Amino acid sequence: MTDIRRNTILSGMRPTGKLHLGHWAGALENWVALQGMYNNYHLVADYHVLTTNLDTSDIAQDTVDMVIDWLAGGIDPEKSPIFRQSQIKEHTELHLIFSMLITKNRLERNPSIKEQVRDLEIENLTYGHLGYPVLQAADILLYRADLVPVGEDQLSHVEITREIARRFNAQYGEVFPEPSHKVTKFSRLPGLDGKDKKMSKSAGNTLLLQDQPAEVWDKLRKAPTDTQKVRRNDPGRPDVCLVFTYHEKFNSGDVPEIRSGCESGELGCVDCKKRCAASIDEFLAPHIERRKQYEADPSLVLDVLRDGEIRAHAVASETMRAVRSTMKLG
Ligand code: TRP
Repeated sequence: MTDIRRNTILSGMRPTGKLHLGHWAGALENWVALQGMYNNYHLVADYHVLTTNLDTSDIAQDTVDMVIDWLAGGIDPEKSPIFRQSQIKEHTELHLIFSMLITKNRLERNPSIKEQVRDLEIENLTYGHLGYPVLQAADILLYRADLVPVGEDQLSHVEITREIARRFNAQYGEVFPEPSHKVTKFSRLPGLDGKDKKMSKSAGNTLLLQDQPAEVWDKLRKAPTDTQKVRRNDPGRPDVCLVFTYHEKFNSGDVPEIRSGCESGELGCVDCKKRCAASIDEFLAPHIERRKQYEADPSLVLDVLRDGEIRAHAVASETMRAVRSTMKLG
């Protein structure tokens, strides 16, 4: 239930389908941990998908797949409304107003957009894509959120949200908080192809939250380790190895022993990976189990969304009333 004494969290993800361990470690884990201390709102950023992909044929299925992972991961929809951005028209209204409060130059300086343009080799940025963080600011501020738990790559967007909130408040009157962000310790979990690569769907280097033990092993077996450790008894350098990062995240109790075994050369990479796979399997087993009820009946997910949309809409329309009245519109 909404408790007005508590502070508010808003966070979301673009619906890109089944989630991977990077989503868990980068954001979802924090959402679940903070649930109960805050009023959480979780948004499926389906409009944001259009910034890089105009094809909407998979969006409904990708939404269901992602929301099942949120629910199986521990988001309780009674406590934390889950909703689609596209179903709440106030997001587009506030986006329009906010788009007047930030300059084109400021948006062009946004490092996250620059990175996307480089990685996706975008030649001509659309107006909507440049405004990605403006829509995100509307997402956050419609719920007057105080805290945005996200991955490290989102921080520049949250910074723009704060700027827009300040600008609005200074121009028209105090309506919005200036939200802070919170990142997890493993906000940049490495992918299976190298310690310096981030786990991401587009890089194809992921362990999915629904991977069965055979898949986990098949993927982990092929992952590169310390290239200087050639033979089994050669000493290794855990700090350059992605498998060691996975131990730190999913097998923290054994970390001192794994480190000394690797450094002395007593622990070979195959055995180390087997132990790592076992701890990941142990972490994933309850998640895979909790997915089953939703996979058997995806209409449960739609019920969650419809209920979340009613509750989110109530808050969003209240904020828009305050915005219009402060701006003397209407
Ligand atoms: N940009 C976020 C991502 O790519 C998704 C997102 C949209 C979001 N609106 C948000 C995250 C508001 C936090 C708050 O994952």
